[in-house]
Parts: sequence; structure tokens; C-alpha cells
Amino acid sequence: MTDQTFGELLSASPSAQSAIDALVREVNHFSTQINDVRPSLPGKAMAYQALLTETGKLRGRDLLYPYIGSGLGNGALVELADGSVKWDLISGIGVHFFGHSDPGLTATALRASLSDTVKHGNLLTGAEPTHFSRTLVELAQRHSKLEHCFLSTSGTLANENALKLALQKHAPACRVLAFADCFMGRSIVMSQIGDSAANRVGIPLNMHVDYMPFWDPALAERIGRKRAIDMSLWHLEQYVQRYPQQHACFIFELVQGEGGFRVGDRECFEELMKLCKHHGIAVWDDEIQCFGRTESMFAYEYFDLGDYVDLFCVGKMTQACATLYTAEYNPKPGLLSGTFTGETVSFAVGQAILERLDSGGYYGPEGLFAQHFRAFEAQVAALAARHPSWFPAVAGDLPICGGVGGMMRFAPFGGKKEAIIKACHALFEAGVIAFWCGHDPYSIRLLPPLPALDVAEWPRIFESIEAGLAKAAI
Ligand SMILES: Cc1ncc(COP(=O)(O)O)c(C=O)c1O
Repeated sequence: MTDQTFGELLSASPSAQSAIDALVREVNHFSTQINDVRPSLPGKAMAYQALLTETGKLRGRDLLYPYIGSGLGNGALVELADGSVKWDLISGIGVHFFGHSDPGLTATALRASLSDTVKHGNLLTGAEPTHFSRTLVELAQRHSKLEHCFLSTSGTLANENALKLALQKHAPACRVLAFADCFMGRSIVMSQIGDSAANRVGIPLNMHVDYMPFWDPALAERIGRKRAIDMSLWHLEQYVQRYPQQHACFIFELVQGEGGFRVGDRECFEELMKLCKHHGIAVWDDEIQCFGRTESMFAYEYFDLGDYVDLFCVGKMTQACATLYTAEYNPKPGLLSGTFTGETVSFAVGQAILERLDSGGYYGPEGLFAQHFRAFEAQVAALAARHPSWFPAVAGDLPICGGVGGMMRFAPFGGKKEAIIKACHALFEAGVIAFWCGHDPYSIRLLPPLPALDVAEWPRIFESIEAGLAKAAI
């Protein structure tokens, strides 16, 4: 008898390790042959089309893009099941931040897959969810009072849990404050809070949401920063006076994702958060899209606002989703649970991603993400100089290029909805997977796998972007 569990013996097994090494080598052997954009393989067209048709039939509507992956890629390049290779600049809406077929993450996933179960739960759990939660809380606590971490299987569910915590703590207050154009997910409640009419067609409206204007730099320029901040505070005071003690929380998306990659203003956020504290309204920071991508790991660090945050949600690039909260918001038993917390592979890979983010030299004004952003801006400026007719003025004085770090947007064709959607489809055909964001004006949105991308690759990427936009411009 030894002191070690059989599980530990398996973890330390040299045979298991050499099998994992051999598999990673094999993946790498094929992955590294994917090194440029290419069209589909002629022999694959019919079978691929059949797969797309079947997929559309099963889900009741076609996929937005004719995209089904082959299961292999190389960094920012991804292979589709028809053999075509494209730049993946949207990474599953921000999920595959370290790109495709990363050898280290593949090894982590393989090791995690040896676990006896695929899923962990709230009733019976392995240690991986604890390791993941510990890593996340330790990182979060460097600049916040967040103390607890409740895991869930989607960003929407993480948000639902945050809302429950706010409602329970501040009951009977039941109204929520949110910024115009925010996105929270697609449960019945989150579809109501998210500011998109199309996303709540047919949904009964039983959530009381009061919308605040998001920071508008063009307005601040016109009327002055101080006045713009005062107007924002005036809006909030109006709601609080209209519905005294009825607001449970204010949802802050510090950099709006679906809303158009709009970057908020530190001072305005801080004044609003102070007012929330004054009126006993929970400050809830939804970083499901922006976490990891600004010039700091947490967007509240980028804005230096961590002290104010009561509730925090994360997902996407972390692979597992979580609601973090301060001790004050720890709920009564029964409020949060569910069969699943997530998968062994998600927790192990998610933890490895958190550790990499912390040690990769990515953050700060001279970090890799800021360098990528500057390279992206330079490419958009050069493109606009070559094709001024593609870049007429955008409504609302929106600059043609914006965002921060790994959240990049640019607005050709005046930011008009139909033109932007057409452009995204043309980019897809040209070998660049991007998406759109914003609500009139619209932008082309990129969430590229920055750590897997060389800054020097942007000119090559923009050759494909230029080819796609040329087709869209016709
Ligand atoms: C800010 C924000 N909150 C919540 C969500 C919902 O996350 P999920 O799609 O994982 O449910 C998203 C997804 O895009 C998001 O961007």
C-alpha cells in the first residue's frame, strides 16, 4: 500500500505521459502543415454542402456562416471540413483565444480527458473545478474584493446567477439598471435586459429595466467631458428618484461587446458606481466578452474600478463560466445550484489559459495586445487611404476604427447594417472569419486569437480583408 490514490498514480504514469506526448506530436505534425489561406478541396464540395444542409435542417435554420470545422487548425488559421483554410479572427466569438491546435492546451486537454467523468456537478465534484476557481479568485482579488466563485456552463447562466444574488440581497428591490445597447445572453430574463428588440420578439416582458446612455466620446467632445458626466449622473438620479429603493443592481459592460466595441470612460463609470454605492445598488461587471482582452486581464483593472465591483461574470475565453462575488453577496442556501458545473477539460484548459494570461507579457500599454491593436489601427488607416470611397463618414461621428486590445472594430461603408453584413460574408469567402457588432451604426468586429498571432502578420491578414471588401464594395 502507498499513500497515493490510484488517480494520482495515473496522473504520474510515465506511459500515460508518453502517450499524450505522442498524440500531441501527431496533432502538431498535421497542424503545422496548415500555414496559409486556401480554397476548399474540389472533392469535398458535395459532402460539405450535404453536411451544411443537414445541420441547418436539424437546427431549424441555416448556420450564419457555412462554417463547419475539420477539427484542426494552426494558431489563427483554421481548417474547415471542406478543406478550406481561413483566418479565424472571431475565434468562436472570443472562445479560442489561443488559436487552434495549440500544443500545450492540447496536452492539457488530453490529460484532463483521462478523468473518470466528463462532467462535474454541484453535488459530486472532482478537484479541477476547485483549482480553476482558486486561480480565478486569486487573480481577481489582486484588485477587487471578490471572494467567491460559482461555476456555470454558459455566460447567460453566470449572469442569471449574478442577478439572483443582487435580487436576494436587495429584496424587495427588483428593477435593474443597464446601459443602452448592452448584451447579456439569451435566457428569458437576459433577453429582456439585453437592449435588442429582435432578441425579445415573443418574450413576455416582466423584468423592469431602466436604460442608461453609454459613454459617447463624440458627445463629450461637443459639450465637454464634465457636462457629459453630469448628464449621465442626472439620468441615474432620475431613475432612483422615480423608483426609490427599487433598483437591485446596475449592470456595467465596461467595454461593450455586441453593442459595438464601445469603450467606456473611467471617470464617468466611477461617478456612476459611487452613486450606486450611495443608493445601495449592486455594481455588477459583466466581462463575459471583454475579460482578458483589454490592456489588463480584468477590464475593471484597466479602468481601475475593482474596489467598486460587487458581482462579476466571466466566460468565453475562460472555457468555464463563473460568477464571482464579494462576501456581502454570498446567498442563502438553495439560491444557486444545478447538475453541471462544467467539464474536466474545460476547467483544466481554462486554468491553463488563466495562468498563461498572467505570465505572457500581454498587458500594459506596451504589452502584446496593445501592440496588436496599434498594428490593426495602422492597417485600417492604410486601407482607408487606399480606398477612401469605402470609408465614408459614419453616423454619430463614430470613428472608422475603434476598440481596445483584442476587441477590434472598423466601420467601412458608413457602418450601414446591410453593407456590413454583406462585407462580413464577402470576407468569409475571401478567407477571413469576422463578425459584426453595434446597433446602427454597425462595425466589422474582430476578436482575434492574439497570443497565437504574430504582430507582423497583420499586413498579410489585411490582404485577404482588402480582397473581401473589394467584392463587397461592388
Ligand atoms: C457581455 C456578454 N454577456 C453575456 C453573454 C452570454 O454568454 P453565453 O453566450 O456564453 O451565454 C455574452 C455573449 O456574447 C456577452 O458578450
